[in-house]
Amino acid sequence: MSRFFASLTRHPLSLLGAALTTASAVVILAIFLFGLVGFEGGPYSGILAYLVLPGFFVLGLAMIPLGLRLQRQREAAAAAGGAPVKGLPVIDFNVPRIRRNFLTFTGLTVANVMILGLVGYKGIETLDSTPFCGQACHSVMDPEFTAYSRSPHARVHCVDCHIGPGADWFVKSKLSGAWQVVSVNLNLYPRPIPTPVHNLRPARETCEQCHWPEKFVGDRLRVRTHYDEDEANTEKKSVLLVKVGGLKRQDGVAGSISQGIHWHIDRNIQIRYLSDESRERIYEVELKRADGSIEKYAREKKPEAGEKTEWRTMDCVDCHNRPTHIYRLPQTELDAAIEVGKIDRSLPFIKREGMKALQVDYPSHEAAKEGIAEQIAAFYAASYPEVARSKQAQVEAAGKELGFIYSVNVFPSMNIKWGTYPNHIGHQEFPGCFRCHDDELKSASGRKIEQDCTQCHSLLAMEEENPEILAQLNP
Ligand code: HEC
Ligand code: HEC
Ligand code: HEC
Ligand code: HEC
Ligand code: HEC
Repeated sequence: MSRFFASLTRHPLSLLGAALTTASAVVILAIFLFGLVGFEGGPYSGILAYLVLPGFFVLGLAMIPLGLRLQRQREAAAAAGGAPVKGLPVIDFNVPRIRRNFLTFTGLTVANVMILGLVGYKGIETLDSTPFCGQACHSVMDPEFTAYSRSPHARVHCVDCHIGPGADWFVKSKLSGAWQVVSVNLNLYPRPIPTPVHNLRPARETCEQCHWPEKFVGDRLRVRTHYDEDEANTEKKSVLLVKVGGLKRQDGVAGSISQGIHWHIDRNIQIRYLSDESRERIYEVELKRADGSIEKYAREKKPEAGEKTEWRTMDCVDCHNRPTHIYRLPQTELDAAIEVGKIDRSLPFIKREGMKALQVDYPSHEAAKEGIAEQIAAFYAASYPEVARSKQAQVEAAGKELGFIYSVNVFPSMNIKWGTYPNHIGHQEFPGCFRCHDDELKSASGRKIEQDCTQCHSLLAMEEENPEILAQLNP
């Protein structure tokens, strides 16, 4: 056996190749085994083990025959100089040494093929992993990753929405990914990353792997809690019965059609719209009904000269454009933090002061955390010295929570401010549904896309203190 290795590595290049291959294989297998027992090495260990080291592994393998060839040339040159000529080795399986060498060679080849198979499989897994997409290019994807990590989809992989099943989108995404690696390294990428994503895979092929229209049936009760900016941070609630919708007739007859909000994605109809590139200004809408008839709605205001426009078929993402990269606004975050008690509601004017503190511009998250905590502490020290003393811990906790809120929504290094990424669900914070439902898109037959408040939800209570409906529902 040792003679076999000696003959393989007589040339220094072969020796180096064998060393390189063996060392890479040992590290790859070690990282693989560590992974099996649950040790996670962070986003870079997978990249190292399954994308970088395999390069060295293959390089080493290639160097071995190259070294053998050089060795052969060297021996031929020596022979020309009069040294004894060595013929080609004779492969005779009757010789035990040859048999052993052959078996060793075959065994090693099988082992190498298995390692390469493992590497190929794990390499693709690495390229598709959430840490690779979200953390490897650190500052660039930090905002998307942070927002994603706090969302209902935090356990859904990036690739489930951004690539989906099948080989063609995998290849497409890796091609565009290769350009992204270049643009990150050469610092060519735009800040913030523009939205919408114009080449996103149609939601039918991604979201519908886990959600499907037939599943959305009926109304959903939503209770939204807000706090006023008065001294008592008065609590007000809106109670809505949201008509999420579903199939109107579920007997499966052709032409059965949904009602309510998810009617837009019924398989029997199609809605297309003409908008500017940001999809915020919608100029025309075309509805194709189940019976094939077409209704065209247009508004008086036309695109400006030179404005880039595009037609698009509506799908999930035209309403749920922020299913997972959810950046919230200061009031939404503050209301939520006060409601769950992370910010103490008994601090006078905490809503108003929190809003003010969050809207200051800071150059970095560190500066923001420090500045916001100081601003809150300074307010209570100056205006409510008694509170500052007796509720020092609550004031500090509020300052800290506000700093956290800032750091998960505003990203100075990527030029992401409050509201940079609009959310199309609803209409209170951004135009959302009212991009179409503003009573101004009209058809020739006089139909319009309505803003009637009861079309999408029943308003059971609107900004009320202790709404009666909640007392009835929860006696
Ligand atoms: C639940 C589905 C889903 C998951 C999971 C998901 N995304 Fe997204 N992503 C979207 C949608 C939808 C958009 C916006 C589409 C639009 O408005 O055009 C988007 C947009 C983006 C954008 C463009 C900037 C923006 O916010 O509009 C980036 C970058 C991005 N995603 C990266 C990631 C990364 C990295 C991960 C994993 C950490 C991830 N996404 C996970 C659905 C998803
Ligand atoms: C791999 C499966 C998967 C994919 C793909 C997926 N989702 Fe989800 N989605 C889930 C799960 C699981 C939940 C439930 C989370 C929970 O209950 O907290 C969810 C919840 C939601 C919710 C409710 C959120 C809330 O506030 O409770 C919406 C809306 C949603 N998804 C939209 C989308 C859209 C739009 C896409 C495509 C861009 C998508 N999902 C892709 C698994 C998925
Ligand atoms: C016309 C806009 C619109 C379209 C298109 C749309 N949705 Fe929704 N969807 C909504 C609204 C509005 C809600 C209710 C949100 C709320 O009140 O929290 C909702 C709720 C949901 C929920 C949560 C349901 C629950 O029981 O709480 C899921 C999941 C969801 N949508 C997935 C999808 C998927 C997947 C698609 C594409 C196949 C889609 N939606 C298309 C507007 C839309
Ligand atoms: C791209 C334009 C567009 C957007 C954006 C849009 N809608 Fe619509 N919506 C329509 C059209 C077109 C109709 C049909 C109007 C008609 O009846 O003539 C409609 C009808 C509806 C209906 C009545 C469905 C039925 O049962 O007949 C509801 C409910 C509705 N939309 C809710 C919403 C909600 C909620 C949002 C935002 C999350 C939204 N829409 C966003 C275009 C849009
Ligand atoms: C095209 C559909 C549509 C129409 C028309 C519509 N809304 Fe809404 N509205 C929504 C959706 C979707 C939400 C988000 C529900 C949620 O918060 O889960 C919403 C949320 C609200 C909220 C709660 C916001 C919060 O967070 O407290 C109020 C209040 C409201 N709407 C009032 C109105 C009034 C008043 C009208 C009539 C002028 C109206 N809406 C018309 C779709 C609509």
